[in-house]
Amino acid sequence: MRLFIALPGNETLATDLARLSGCALGTLETRHFPDGESYVRLADDVSGKDVDFVCTLARPDDQILRLIFAARTARELGAKTVRLIAPYLAYMRQDKRFQEGESISSTHFAKLLSDSFDSLITIDPHLHRITDLGEIFTIPTKVEHAAPLLADWIGNNVKNALVVGPDSESQQWVESVAERAGARQLILNKNRLGDHEVEILVPDLSDYEGLAPVLVDDIISSGRTMIETAEALIAQGFPKPYILTVHALFAGSTYWQLNQLAKDIISTDAVPHETSRIGIAELLI
Ligand code: R5P
Repeated sequence: MRLFIALPGNETLATDLARLSGCALGTLETRHFPDGESYVRLADDVSGKDVDFVCTLARPDDQILRLIFAARTARELGAKTVRLIAPYLAYMRQDKRFQEGESISSTHFAKLLSDSFDSLITIDPHLHRITDLGEIFTIPTKVEHAAPLLADWIGNNVKNALVVGPDSESQQWVESVAERAGARQLILNKNRLGDHEVEILVPDLSDYEGLAPVLVDDIISSGRTMIETAEALIAQGFPKPYILTVHALFAGSTYWQLNQLAKDIISTDAVPHETSRIGIAELLI
């Protein structure tokens, strides 16, 4: 018997997963002690059950301890399997020591999760120099892709779309999204100069005149990538672009800034946000 248990903020997705799969929904009781430490209690009998903890890992530092406590408690109480369903998988971007002494946090985070769960399922993890999660996780991992869902949204909502990827890393994405949406595509070049500074190199785009730009990226974090791309296109006479992403992290005032430049902003609910209009639950069943 399978039991889905939501970490705080993941209740809607856990409910959807339980409904779609016809399995039960469990409850995690959690609160903070007066000193700020986390209290965690599994309210259901997990003995002999396949327990799936549902926890997207945007802002992971707030979630990780209680997630690890919950998973290890499920094991202690006899769960048959303990799986992590993390639509957004955090800490995948620091996969290299750029400066002496830096932590390669992707490997440490993967080890932390591998030690506490039997398996993991996620959506479009940001893999750059790592090509497969198996390189850093020691447990079975499964990766699902939201590109077809983004493509279908574009196909159903935007006429004469030009699917734009802001950098070479987005090429794999943009090709499959544009192909399925029946749209033209364009890949730009990006230089990242710092956490909050990027430069987007845009060629002459007069060949694409009259098309509706749709910017697509796996993650929006500081938003600088999308902001610079949108500004560059508008400067060449294009209308405000649609902006689509899988993982809407939207640090600080990013969402407000993007709203000034976008015709519309659409994300999946891998990270729940008011822009979440594309449901990913079906990918995780
Ligand atoms: C990087 O290559 C990713 O695909 C995104 O373009 C990047 O992580 C977005 O970050 P930000 O919103 O901070 O520019």
